[in-house]
Amino acid sequence: MEEMKKGLEGVVALDTRISFIDGIRGILKYRGIRIEELVDLPYDVVSYLLINAKIPDEAELSEYSHRLRKDRYIDDKLIDILKGFDFGSDALDGLRTAVSCTSHIDDENNHHSPDANRNKTVRLVAKFPTIVAAMHRNSIGKEPIKPNEELSHGANFLYMLNGRLPTVLEAEAMEKDLILSAEHELNPSTFSLRIAASTLSDMYSAVICGLCTLKGPLHGGARKGVMDMLDEVGSRENARDYVLQKLERKEKVMGFGHRVYKTYDPRARIYRDVARRLAIERGDTGWYEMAEEIEHILYHEFIEIRGKPIYPNVDFYSAVVYKYLDIPSELATSIFAMGRVSGWIAHCMEQYCDNKVIRPRAHSV
Ligand code: ACO
Repeated sequence: MEEMKKGLEGVVALDTRISFIDGIRGILKYRGIRIEELVDLPYDVVSYLLINAKIPDEAELSEYSHRLRKDRYIDDKLIDILKGFDFGSDALDGLRTAVSCTSHIDDENNHHSPDANRNKTVRLVAKFPTIVAAMHRNSIGKEPIKPNEELSHGANFLYMLNGRLPTVLEAEAMEKDLILSAEHELNPSTFSLRIAASTLSDMYSAVICGLCTLKGPLHGGARKGVMDMLDEVGSRENARDYVLQKLERKEKVMGFGHRVYKTYDPRARIYRDVARRLAIERGDTGWYEMAEEIEHILYHEFIEIRGKPIYPNVDFYSAVVYKYLDIPSELATSIFAMGRVSGWIAHCMEQYCDNKVIRPRAHSV
C-alpha cells in the first residue's frame, strides 16, 4: 500500500479550476485572476465568478444581484427557532442549525437538477448574512432587522447587525472581507464538503459539512481565537510577554502559520491595509498597533531565530478588521462562512459535474 501522509500533507486529491495557490510566492487566484485584482470588486461579482467561472456581464450581474437581494429574507419559522436557543460562545453552531432548518423549508432541497442547484445557490449565499445578523440581534435581546435591498451584500449585513448604515469605508471593508474569505482551494472545510458532495448528498448537507469543519480553532475558528487573544493582550506593551510565554509553553499563536503558505499570505497583506485605514478613520489605532507589534515579535522569533516560515495568515488581520467593525468574536467564524459559502458552492458543483466518490484507504496498524 502507498505511504501514509499524516494530515494528507502534500497529497494532491483532485483537479480544480476554481482557485490556485502558490504557497512559496504568496499568490492566490480565483478562476485564474489574482486576488489583488478581485478585491476591489463587489462581492456579488466575485461570488458569480466563483460559481459560474466567468466575470458576469452587466445583464448577468444585474440578474444575479437582483436575485440575491430578493432572497435575503428568512422565514419567520426560522427566526422563531433561532430565538429559542442560546448559541453560546460560537454562533457557528447556530448558523449550522439554521442552514439545516432552511433546507427543510426549501422545496427543492432534494432536487438535483441544474436549475434547482442554481436556486439553492442563490438562497444560501443570500440568506447567510440575514441568519448571522438575526442570531446576533437575538443574543442581545433585540429584534432582527429586515434586509435593505438598496445596500450591497456587505453593507446590508452591517446594517442588519448594528441597525445603522455603515460608513463608506466600513462597507468597503466588509465587502473585501467576504471576497478574501470566499475561496481557498482544498482547505479542510472545502475538502469535507467535497467528500459529502461526492456521495451525491444534497447541497445543503454538503455546506453543513463545510460549516462543521470550518469551526475548529486550527481552521476558521482561528479568527475568533485571534480576536480573543487581542482582548487578552489588551495593549501593545503587553504583547511581548504574552507571545513569548505562549511560545515557551509550546502553544500555537492563533492567526500564524499555514499548511500551504510558506511566505506572507497575500490576503493578510490586504487585511492589514484595511485594518490600518479603519484604525485611522476611527481615530483609535490601538488594536492595529498591538497586532503589528505581535507580528514584529513573531517575525523575529519564527523567521530570524528559528528559521521557520511562519507568517500571519488570513485570520490575523481579519480579526483586527472585525474589532474595528465592532463585530463580537462569537460571530467571527460565521462571518467567515458568509464569504466562503460561494467557494463551497463552486466546489460542490465542480464535484457533481465530474464525480467519483472520495474514499481513501488507511493502513491498519
Ligand atoms: N504558533 C506557534 N507555532 C506554530 C504555529 C503557530 N501559529 N504554527 C505552526 N507552528 C509550529 C508548530 O508548533 C510546528 O513546530 P515543530 O515543528 O517544532 O513541532 C511547526 O510550526 C509546524 O506546524 P504544524 O502545526 O505541524 O503545521 P501544519 O501545516 O500541520 O498546520 C496550521 C498549519 C494548523 C495552520 C498551524 O500553523 C496552526 O495551528 N496555526 C494556528 C491556528 C491558525 O491560525 N489556523 C488558521 C489557519 S488559516 C485557515 O485555516 C483559515
